[in-house]
Amino acid sequence: MARALSRRAKVVACASTGNAATSLAGAAASVGLPCVIFVPEFAPEPKVAQLLVFGARVLRVRGSYDATWELCQRACDRHGWYNRNAAVNPSLVEGKKTGGLEIAEQCGAAIPDWVVVSVGDGCTIAGIGKGLAEMKALGFAPRVPRLLGVQAAGARPLVDAFAAGRDLVPGSAETMADSICVGHPRNWRKALAAVRASDGAFVAVPDEAILEAQRETGRRAGLFGEPAAAAALAGLKQAVADGVVGRRASVLAVLTGSGLKDVRAALRAGGAPIDLPASDDALDEHLRERPIELAR
Ligand SMILES: Cc1ncc(COP(=O)(O)O)c(C=O)c1O
Repeated sequence: MARALSRRAKVVACASTGNAATSLAGAAASVGLPCVIFVPEFAPEPKVAQLLVFGARVLRVRGSYDATWELCQRACDRHGWYNRNAAVNPSLVEGKKTGGLEIAEQCGAAIPDWVVVSVGDGCTIAGIGKGLAEMKALGFAPRVPRLLGVQAAGARPLVDAFAAGRDLVPGSAETMADSICVGHPRNWRKALAAVRASDGAFVAVPDEAILEAQRETGRRAGLFGEPAAAAALAGLKQAVADGVVGRRASVLAVLTGSGLKDVRAALRAGGAPIDLPASDDALDEHLRERPIELAR
């Protein structure tokens, strides 16, 4: 937004599955700039709700995220709107570095062996990689962690490109993890380069493993991430099982988004509450049937 203002933008726009859009819409509202948001039709309702409350023009596109991105791209060209789209806006790519700077700053000498990040367009992992490398170059970090990129099994073009040692071939995208439901990652070159430079790896995980990871982060750590966030933990478990990440390695997994951003997925992971009348007898009967298990 600072960059948009310095360029005297009159309208800002982006395509997003919802999170980047929310940041942009909120920031635009705070400075009174009109904001046009293109979301794919599968964008979860809580994300859309936030955009609407921020007063953005929310255009819900009947199509994939990839088609939505291209529509926004053409609209920015045709109407002269400031374009915040993933990968094409250099300030966005540079801004994502903050993740790497903060990891190095907060970990200090205890910088982990691996940093795990879920990957859609590839801006986040490339930015974090760049931030970490710069902290090492500046002498603030003792070394650069290896990067583990995680994609969903149904949207895995970077996993395949990495494994084959080739450039990106765009593919299909089908996963419940909406934020990484990307078949044509726009920042693919930098994402592959960052992971390769760190001697890292890519891994793909099925949706069931993502749901399981969402439950596990909730139940074992008290952390509630949206599916794309929990994918990082699912990917880590997969990489450990594959022998890519050693069992003794120190690892930092970035939980990129709040679980409240996709309540429907959260309920799939968490299950249903138990309905009860307001009666002691009913409560006692329930507890007889299902006693509370005590911690060992
Ligand atoms: C919660 C969440 N996790 C991961 C990602 C992946 O980031 P990138 O598309 O830069 O790879 C996104 C992107 O929108 C996201 O919203």
